[in-house]
Amino acid sequence: MKIGLCTGGGDCPGLNAVIRAVVKHAVGTYGWEVHGIKDSFNGLMSRPLQVRKIELDDVSDILTKGGTILGTTNAGNPFSGDPKESQRKINLITEAYKQLGLEAIIVVGGDGTQTIAHQLMQHGIKIVGVPKTIDNDLASTDETIGFNTAVEVAADAVSRLQSTAESHDRIMILEVMGRDAGHIALHAGMAGGANIILLPEIPFDYKKLVEKVEQRKKMGRYYSLVVVAEGAHEVGKGAEYVTTTTSAHQPKNLGGIGSMVARELFERTKIETRVTVLGHIQRGGTPTPYDRVLATVFGTRAVELIKQKKFGVFVARVGSGFTEVSYEKAAGKYRPLELDNPYLLSAEASGIALGR
Ligand code: F6P
Repeated sequence: MKIGLCTGGGDCPGLNAVIRAVVKHAVGTYGWEVHGIKDSFNGLMSRPLQVRKIELDDVSDILTKGGTILGTTNAGNPFSGDPKESQRKINLITEAYKQLGLEAIIVVGGDGTQTIAHQLMQHGIKIVGVPKTIDNDLASTDETIGFNTAVEVAADAVSRLQSTAESHDRIMILEVMGRDAGHIALHAGMAGGANIILLPEIPFDYKKLVEKVEQRKKMGRYYSLVVVAEGAHEVGKGAEYVTTTTSAHQPKNLGGIGSMVARELFERTKIETRVTVLGHIQRGGTPTPYDRVLATVFGTRAVELIKQKKFGVFVARVGSGFTEVSYEKAAGKYRPLELDNPYLLSAEASGIALGR
């Protein structure tokens, strides 16, 4: 049996661990062929095809490697743009799928890629999904690959900022990723000892931030640590964007809120402020052991689902166990922080200001 495997959307630590697990189980246990598709579905749209057979040898040393050996892209959605061109791309994909004789494709991706996969299912392609994104914002699963590593890196950054903040009596602001969801900011802020965490889900009020800084001053703490999610914004305002130079499909990226908060807090408190934008550092490098294990379970379970001919589902972590969730139910659905999220309530109960 032959299966396809691709990684789509923004990369994250742990993708190679999934690829390794899929190959070890599919090739090693069942003797199937795994065909690695380059750059999400782009490899199936290219002529000649950009697809290669992945052998056990190819995955022997990739468990701890960041990124993805298959390449990825968040451009090239075959369903976007001119309808004729879109149909041409879909035909290229379905032709390639038949020509390669694939039984199914394992798609490792976030909401964008999984939405494309769901649409491809309507064109006869059998799919099993593996959820990944540092943002941890997919409705299908409690955990996605890459989130744990991003939190670890961001939490380390917060705790490193603490010593320099304290030495200089400064307000240190760390801007982290997460798009419109505050999972990374909340967990990294809690783990790193932040005093203020600003989340996209809770528009903030500067008066509350100043109150927190002043309250700390009264306690003899002349510095403060702020973690701000890139999608956070003031009450009544929208999120901040920065224009990126090269990304034609997505000309605007969230970002810039860290500097705005720094300027405003300095104006209001006259305490020196500094900003660190963590950026893609939280998306690169070695996955944590936790992410490696999660990726291994997700990868092997995806193979097992194909073995059982259960298609059109994602592997998922729900509660303390693993399960699968149908694309019908979950594809493209987004999971922000709920206002009764237990981590969020606990952050506030432990004295962290959320700006409300
Ligand atoms: O979805 C993952 C993510 O890293 C977001 O947190 C961030 O907003 C975005 O991707 C950045 O995208 P790009 O890599 O295209 O700059």
